[in-house]
Order: sequence, then structure tokens, then C-alpha cells
Amino acid sequence: MSKIFSKSLSVFNILSNDIAIDLGTANTLIWKKGEGVKLNEPSVVAFDYANKSIIAVGFEAQAMIGKTHRSIKIVKPLRDGVIADFEIAEGMMRAFIRKATTTWQAARRIVVCVPSGITEVERRAIRDSCEHAGAREVYLIAEPMAAAIGVGLNVNDSNGNVIVDIGGGTTEVAVITYSSIVKARSIRDAGDEMTESIIRYFQEKHNFLIGERTAETVKHQVGSALPLEKEIEVEIKGRDKISGIPKRIHTNSKEVREAIIGTVNKIVETIIQLLDETPPELSADILDRGIILTGGGANLIGLDELIKRKTQLAVAVAEEPLTSVINGTGRVIDKLSEHSNVLIKSNRY
Ligand SMILES: Nc1ncnc2c1ncn2[C@@H]1O[C@H](COP(=O)(O)OP(=O)(O)OP(=O)(O)O)[C@@H](O)[C@H]1O
Ligand SMILES: [Mg+2]
Repeated sequence: MSKIFSKSLSVFNILSNDIAIDLGTANTLIWKKGEGVKLNEPSVVAFDYANKSIIAVGFEAQAMIGKTHRSIKIVKPLRDGVIADFEIAEGMMRAFIRKATTTWQAARRIVVCVPSGITEVERRAIRDSCEHAGAREVYLIAEPMAAAIGVGLNVNDSNGNVIVDIGGGTTEVAVITYSSIVKARSIRDAGDEMTESIIRYFQEKHNFLIGERTAETVKHQVGSALPLEKEIEVEIKGRDKISGIPKRIHTNSKEVREAIIGTVNKIVETIIQLLDETPPELSADILDRGIILTGGGANLIGLDELIKRKTQLAVAVAEEPLTSVINGTGRVIDKLSEHSNVLIKSNRY
């Protein structure tokens, strides 16, 4: 290849703006082809309903929670891993893409990951949103497949691998072999459900109202799936439900665990059910290779140990659970033709 040609090819690469997107319920990450992760922000929008416009997205919108006036609402346009509010999701995606890429050129090709349990209608909605955001070609990849590639598994070989991705909206459990998902279960119980359970718990047990951000922080600080050697005390701020007066109460990791354990158990049961449905020849591989946990929920203290005890299998948490999916989706956009076999087959392309 001549020098001039190879140079123009690399310039073309820069201009092409091909990207990978992990459009998550909690966080959106964008990978630019050949460059890596360019954006990692909460999937949150400050939306002005009076004149139907987006005021802010991501961190900026998150910082506005509880500080907006009446017509401006803080919206999470994704629920349970899929788009719940089309107009706002599209606007958010457009703003994020603009931020992550050169402003003057639309993304040409987008690889976007979707929950494995997604319906055809939901799939079309994501595809349409990417097209409206400027993509000329849209490719979809199942989240657990992306996560498997992201943690460095060779998904093309004959070994069976079990991936459990615990996000904000969905938990995806999948057995992958020969670059396809042989068995998968997707439940709409994950991190958000735990946070909501914490809010409900304090309301019901202590007549105490706390906001979503407080519950989320408490979950990160002291949330656990198993009793801790030394339970942790924590102080939380909120409002007394009866008097309406702001106050602070003391709680601990035991109470928080009580609040979230229902969701944790649902996740563990789903893994056990999937293992039960797995063909015996793959079960032998799984015995050797164990289970890999990805997604933000994998950070929950003691979850790996609980799954290990319940399944009697080796369980490993990915090195970077919050970025496993985008790392895998990014590798796919970097070498799209090489990875075409892992993409979701679609009628449109
Ligand atoms: N240390 C932690 N302990 C418990 N949960 C955590 C921790 N860190 C992050 N999380 C949770 O992980 C979730 C976000 O994970 P992630 O970014 O993988 O989700 P997502 O990809 O946006 O969602 P989805 O894949 O379901 O659409 C949130 O619910 C967050 O509270
Ligand atoms: Mg995710």
C-alpha cells in the first residue's frame, strides 16, 4: 500500500466517526473507533416540558436533581435496559454523540448493545433512535456477548462461558459458545431495583423518606449480599414521613442488606435456572471455567461469594465491571468485519 494511500486511509478513519455505544439504564458509554472510551456519563436528562427542550444531559443534568424549577424535570429515558421515552432518549444520545465525536460530522456506523431479552419492537426503537441521531448503519450486539468480549474471553472457541451482567435495569445471564448465545435469561431486576427497595424499606420500616441519590450512595457504601465480618454503621439524611421535618438517622449494612436481599436472591435464582437449562456438555466446560460477573452490580460486596456458595462454581468479578460491555462493543466496532458473527442478525441489514 502506498504511503499516501495509507495516510488518507487513516485520515478517513478519523473522519469516519464510527462509534460503539453502551446505552445503559444507569450509564451511557461511547467508544470512538480506534480511540477507546470517549464518554462515560449517567443516562440522565434535564428536560424543560414548557418548551420541550433538553436543558442538560449526563453529569450536568444529574447535578440539577432536586434543584430545578417546576417545568424542568430530571428524566431517565431508559428503563429496564430499554428506551422508555423516545424523544428524550434520542436527544440524549445525540448530545452524547456530539460530545464524544467531532461536532461537524455525524456518526457513520454505530454498534450498540441491547439486552438479550429485548423484543423486536424495542430493538427497532433503539435502531431508529441511532438512525435519527445520525447513524447511516446500525448494528446491534447482545449485552452479555459484548461483556464476554470485553473481559477478553474468546467467544469464538468451543468452550462454554457463563457471563452475568448486572446493570441498573437488567440482569443478563448467558452461556456463550461458538460466538453465539446458546442460553440466556434476562430479568428486569438489577441495581435500580435494589435502590428502590432501599427507599421503600426506610419508608415502611422507619417512616423515613430518602431520595434516590441517597439510597444509591448507601447501597454503594454499605450494600452487601452476605453478612459482613463487622457490620458497617452509616448515617443517612432524609425527611420524617409523619412530621415532614428533615432529619438524619443511623442505619447499618444489615438493614441495607435486608432491603436488597429480595433482588439479590432473584439474581442468584436466575443463574441457577440457567445452569439447570444448560446442555450437559457445556456444563462440563462451565465447571472448569466458572462464572464471570460484569456490570456495576458486580461491585456489590459479597455477591460473588454468595453465587459461589449457591452454585458451587468458581466466580470471578471482571477487572472493570462498569466498562466490560463498552470495551467489548468497542472491540467490535474497531474490527467490524472480523466480528460480524457476534452481531444480532436482523432483517434490515
Ligand atoms: N459498589 C457498588 N455496589 C453496588 N451497586 C453498584 C456499585 N457500583 C455501581 N453499582 C450499581 O450498578 C448499576 C449501574 O451499572 P451499569 O452501569 O453496568 O448499568 P447500565 O449498563 O447502565 O444498566 P443496564 O445494563 O441494565 O441498562 C447501578 O444500579 C449502580 O448503583
Ligand atoms: Mg449495561
